[in-house]
Amino acid sequence: MNVHARLADLATLGATGDGIDRALFTPPEYAARRRFADWAEAAGLSVEQDRVGNVFARLIGGADAPPIQCGSHLDTVKGGGAYDGAFGVIGGLEALERIAAGGDALRRPLEVVAWAGEEASRFPLGCLGSSAFARLTPYPQIGALIADDDGESFADALDGPSGLLDGVRLRDDFPAPAAYIELHIEQGPLLERAAARLGVVTAIAGQRRLRVEIVGRAGHAGTIPMDGRADALCAASEIVLAVERAAHDVGESVATVGWLDVAPNQTNIVPGRVVLRVDARSVDDERVAEIERCVRAAGAQIAAVRGTPIGVQLIELRAAAPMDARMRAIVRRACERFVPEPLELPSGAGHDAMCLAQIVPTAMLFVPSIGGHSHVAAEKTAPQDLELGVEARAAALAAADHELPLER
Ligand code: GLV
Ligand code: MN
Ligand code: MN
Repeated sequence: MNVHARLADLATLGATGDGIDRALFTPPEYAARRRFADWAEAAGLSVEQDRVGNVFARLIGGADAPPIQCGSHLDTVKGGGAYDGAFGVIGGLEALERIAAGGDALRRPLEVVAWAGEEASRFPLGCLGSSAFARLTPYPQIGALIADDDGESFADALDGPSGLLDGVRLRDDFPAPAAYIELHIEQGPLLERAAARLGVVTAIAGQRRLRVEIVGRAGHAGTIPMDGRADALCAASEIVLAVERAAHDVGESVATVGWLDVAPNQTNIVPGRVVLRVDARSVDDERVAEIERCVRAAGAQIAAVRGTPIGVQLIELRAAAPMDARMRAIVRRACERFVPEPLELPSGAGHDAMCLAQIVPTAMLFVPSIGGHSHVAAEKTAPQDLELGVEARAAALAAADHELPLER
């Protein structure tokens, strides 16, 4: 099976008719990890998992030295596409298969990793597996602390039937790799606009996620006069607009409210409580910090005017991740073997590479997303671009193996 066929096969897991729902530790996500592990074993790779559900497939080669890793994630957002994450994992598997088939001696092992839970589609934190691996998130403590919208904790979901893979060796002591290279679809329009087929990432935008809780007063929608209300959703609406304004005012940044929980959420009741989440990003961390300050100031002002206490809590902070200069050059030279002018571009989307970049030299390469669509069912990359991405990734891995010292 080629990369396109494998991605089409994975896309059936969690398909809803309007995109893919493959949230971490659910049956379709388990099935995707299982299929990846089976394909990797059939390809002769050695497959293991760690205690948070990351799956490692290793091509043994050369010295018993830290591997060069590649990878991405198999979970999706709600109604997501077939390429975000899955391409990096399946493309990595294919790259390793081609390197093995090419027969060139490796100086060290190469590894492709399916990182657990990159999308915050089930638990409110993203990059769960890669941040635990990089020891940026304390595990096991975090396992009991974070819960999904139904109150099930990460630890319980991991222990459940869709958690760790049956029959795959569990290992505690995964060493840091020598370097990390992630292949991903761009998820935006820049490569397509520049008519470029390969992109080399300069830096990944930093992120802050805020949880905002607005406490109003629930009551009868027919009897409470307009001047006697403390409507939590009206206050929340002002927060949503303040978030949009903050990103415009701060500039070179984006900010979104994509999740709201309204209680009691009934037509004939004045909303008594709203919780919403803010996602703010920029490659300049100071701009993201400024957006947080703006949201906090707006919250205090709206609370005072409307009589609705507003609490703002920082729930996730990921620093912007500039890519490693040497690894970037290796990836660029690999891309130049296939296209004359790969585009250098930043990533507005978050990636597991942000966590790996905190501990080892890291680089990323992109292939175009048709129409720039991503996180929606329409997400697509042309089969010939998928193929090119795999070739460039295989060339980058081989070059990194050749160039990087065996000792870090
Ligand atoms: C993940 O795809 C993110 O950028 O939030
Ligand atoms: Mn995504
Ligand atoms: Mn992704």
